[in-house]
Amino acid sequence: SLDTGPDVEAAYAGRINLRVSVPTGDVALTIMKLTLQENNKIRCKVQIPKDTSGKGYASTTLVVLVAPSPPVCRIVGTTEYFENINMTCASEEGSPAPTYKWQSYTVNNVPRPNPLKATDVNGLLSLYNISIDTSGFFVCTSQNKIRSATCNVTLAVMPPSMKLGSVGAALIAAAVIGLILAAIGIYCCCCRKRKEQSEEYTMG
Ligand SMILES: *[C@@H]1O[C@H](CO)[C@@H](O)[C@H](O)[C@H]1NC(C)=O
Ligand SMILES: *[C@@H]1O[C@H](CO)[C@@H](O)[C@H](O)[C@H]1NC(C)=O
Repeated sequence: SLDTGPDVEAAYAGRINLRVSVPTGDVALTIMKLTLQENNKIRCKVQIPKDTSGKGYASTTLVVLVAPSPPVCRIVGTTEYFENINMTCASEEGSPAPTYKWQSYTVNNVPRPNPLKATDVNGLLSLYNISIDTSGFFVCTSQNKIRSATCNVTLAVMPPSMKLGSVGAALIAAAVIGLILAAIGIYCCCCRKRKEQSEEYTMG
């Protein structure tokens, strides 16, 4: 209504300005202090009393632009030979929604293509049957039409012998304990025998 001004929701109080010019048929909506809340379709509806012919509305899409926040890179899985691991990358903010891409570098920081079997889908990089050759730097770029931001993870693939090493240590510990128990057993038997013998001598 032109007389009472626009009916404004509390969330838009003081942030909305509607300029109406009846002679030119022009209505201008101004939104101030834009937030992602307004990242939406906006419809303009015209109502003329008793006029029902024609199209009474038109709509447009308002895209609020927000630069991607620095993404967070993570390694998910065990970084040992022959394992399959995932690398995740995500920006908390960004509008339109950022797209993600991983770039891999050798340990000497030389760019290289991702391994043949690897997949890079929407920030999720999957690496299969990793080895020492998979070690290096992995940089994820999060990008939308405004800007891009990156994160960088270092992958150091360890030989599985590290795991076998601890199993080996456990086996050695078990063997040592076994030997000690055996030694105690032998010592006791000998002592008892010697005692029995000395008793026999005494009796004799
Ligand atoms: C994993 O890679 C090794 C060589 O690095 C190869 O010998 C082995 O067959 C591969 N395993 C699978 C399941 O592809
Ligand atoms: C990733 O990090 C490594 C080690 O901190 C650094 O040497 C390398 O230059 C970085 N790469 C990029 C593209 O930022």
